[in-house]
Amino acid sequence: PPTGLEETDSVTLTRFVLHEQRKHPESQGDLTLLLTSVQLACKVTDSCVRKAGIAKLYGLAGGGNVSGDLQQKLDVISNETFKVNIESSQKVAVMVSEEEELPIVVEKHNRGKYGIAFDPLDGSSNIDSNVTIGSIFSIFHLPDAEDIHTTDDAARQIMQPGRKIVAAGYAMYGSATNLVLSFGNGVHGFTLDPSLGEFVLTHPNIRIPRRGKIYSVNEGNCKNWDKSVAQYIHSLKFPSEGKSPYSLRYIGSMVADVHRTLLYGGIFCYPADKKNPNGKLRLLYEGAPMAFIMEQAGGKASTGTENILDIQPHSIHQRTPVFMGSYEDVCDLESFCKSTS
Ligand code: AHG
Ligand code: MN
Ligand code: MN
Ligand code: MN
Repeated sequence: PPTGLEETDSVTLTRFVLHEQRKHPESQGDLTLLLTSVQLACKVTDSCVRKAGIAKLYGLAGGGNVSGDLQQKLDVISNETFKVNIESSQKVAVMVSEEEELPIVVEKHNRGKYGIAFDPLDGSSNIDSNVTIGSIFSIFHLPDAEDIHTTDDAARQIMQPGRKIVAAGYAMYGSATNLVLSFGNGVHGFTLDPSLGEFVLTHPNIRIPRRGKIYSVNEGNCKNWDKSVAQYIHSLKFPSEGKSPYSLRYIGSMVADVHRTLLYGGIFCYPADKKNPNGKLRLLYEGAPMAFIMEQAGGKASTGTENILDIQPHSIHQRTPVFMGSYEDVCDLESFCKSTS
């Protein structure tokens, strides 16, 4: 009998999620509805990003966030879009955003059993130059959602290791608009068909190459790297006899650098350094969701000495060093870091 997912070119994200949901008889479709609202938030953000130049949405909003980042107008607009659309799904009890100092606790009568952490607009420094940017999200199950009364309760319940992620993904606002996500059984990529307004399946079951030929890091920080990281990067540029050097590709939007690494292989790095002892990227809505996706695609994600998915968060905006990508490349990096730690 047909699986409902015949090889047609219009397997929409909603249909795909419904199909996935059938594999979990206990689920009542809450995650499907939550992902529908996340999908809408990404489509609205996509539309704002693409008209920003015309609608005068470029430039700074005037404020800053708890991480110390200056907020671009599109950071604020995408943050509002994610909050209002996701809360309206009535499937979440807690929302954590890069642009919100405290967790948002949803009213009891509007609450669901999930928690979501999101980076509503990733790569903000690239907005005004029309370089690819994106959004990142991670979804957790909150079994005691009804016991949440304060923002402290909310933080405690959503601060789960990345291993506990129920679903994670990112949207990428590039020459095409992609949405890549995983529910814990593989990674699947969708492309927005503007004529339908639907994300359609274009990259079923993405697998990252075991080893790549590209490294991705902000070389401008090399003065401040730990010695072991500097030695690893040096080994890629000056390989042993007979091996060719890796190429460097660095966009400065995590979503774009990670997406290229996922499809082509290689390693994406945002190391800790003397200025940022835990690196720059935040665990809950950048490091963990991307690590989840990388592992689901057969890759690896490490701080240099431990698996990013094993970290138990202690604050909702905490940072983590990030090395993720092809399994063998990340193992090589770890061998440098572990030999000196
Ligand atoms: P965000 O725009 O959400 O604050 O994230 C920016 C991050 C990430 O997208 C990227 O990998 C990194 O900042 C780039 O940092 P540098 O400009 O220091 O290389
Ligand atoms: Mn930021
Ligand atoms: Mn970001
Ligand atoms: Mn951001």
